[in-house]
Amino acid sequence: MAFFRKTPETFGLDIGSSGVRAVRVKDSGGSYTLSALGMASLPPDAITDGTIKDAPTVAEAIRTAVSRAGVRGSDCAIAVCGRELIIKKVQIPEVPAKEVADVVQLEAEHHVPFAIDEVFLDFQSVGKHDGVLDLILVAVKKSKVLEYAAVVEDAGLVPSIVDVDSFALGNQFEVNYPGERGETVALIDIGASIMKTNVVRSGSTIFARDIPFGGNNYTQAIAQQLKIPFEQAEAAKLGRDVGVRWETVVPALEAVSRELSLEIQRTFDYFASTAESERIGKIVLAGGCAQLPGLGDYLSSNWGIPVELTKPFQRIDFDPAYADDVHAAGPALAVAVGLALRRPGDKQK
Ligand SMILES: Nc1ncnc2c1ncn2[C@@H]1O[C@H](COP(=O)(O)OP(=O)(O)OP(=O)(O)O)[C@@H](O)[C@H]1O
Ligand SMILES: [Mg+2]
Repeated sequence: MAFFRKTPETFGLDIGSSGVRAVRVKDSGGSYTLSALGMASLPPDAITDGTIKDAPTVAEAIRTAVSRAGVRGSDCAIAVCGRELIIKKVQIPEVPAKEVADVVQLEAEHHVPFAIDEVFLDFQSVGKHDGVLDLILVAVKKSKVLEYAAVVEDAGLVPSIVDVDSFALGNQFEVNYPGERGETVALIDIGASIMKTNVVRSGSTIFARDIPFGGNNYTQAIAQQLKIPFEQAEAAKLGRDVGVRWETVVPALEAVSRELSLEIQRTFDYFASTAESERIGKIVLAGGCAQLPGLGDYLSSNWGIPVELTKPFQRIDFDPAYADDVHAAGPALAVAVGLALRRPGDKQK
């Protein structure tokens, strides 16, 4: 009896390359409360460039994060990112709603650089004009989804929603910044190994792209320049006292920030080539690396537009008991929060 069937409560499970975060957010008619939060870190080689290299270690970190969060229930929303993921704005002729999926399936072959039977396809309508439908096409290698689903199942959970990091970022932004609907905003999550860009306007994605670049690039540059191990370089980057003077770290940080800005420039150029003279009015940064001192100011002066740090709990209440974790993780919780806001069936067309 569907009437009595309870929709399973899902929680967000962000499996990042530097750590796992489990977040549950309660939605009481549009007012949100954090009801569970747990994190566990991962060694640098467990996930590299978005590929799970050490599944037992990742499954263990998932179990730890979930048990720290104290979430009950096993249904979760996870996300994938990286080079096996293609997100593209495409146009198809306007057809009746029930035929769109078939047309997308046929059309996708021209846009996806993988065999079409090797990918899961999804799409979202973003507008129509002159007999043409604008869609955001999403294609992800089945093997990537299955790789992440398997490790989640190993941890005893059910990945009932599989999303994309950059969309989770957008989801989080929409809830936390409901007023910002007119301007075109580039949301950029800089994680440990992958940078995810989602350009949004009026609540819709108009462009998205993942680039293999992140906090590890900084750490590696410090390690190389100072000839110290990765772990020590990582701690030095975070400003911890590990016998490395901050001044000696700065040149490596500056060099990598220049590279990062160039990567952003490539992405913006690519965006400009696909979008109708759209101007990006603002950058909103997320991900742990966004907390690098001075990075926001540097990008802002490079780009001549405001750069802000996202506040994943701007519109989500939380008990003071969570305050330390929320503040320490800061923008690194953006994707987890975006996933925590998902519910089964919420994106059905
Ligand atoms: N205060 C800080 N200053 C500078 N860098 C930081 C700070 N806090 C975290 N980082 C860096 O942020 C990165 C981790 O960010 P995040 O947790 O968003 O990544 P992730 O989700 O695990 O990785 P990915 O999304 O790339 O798979 C690491 O490189 C870490 O060193
Ligand atoms: Mg991440």
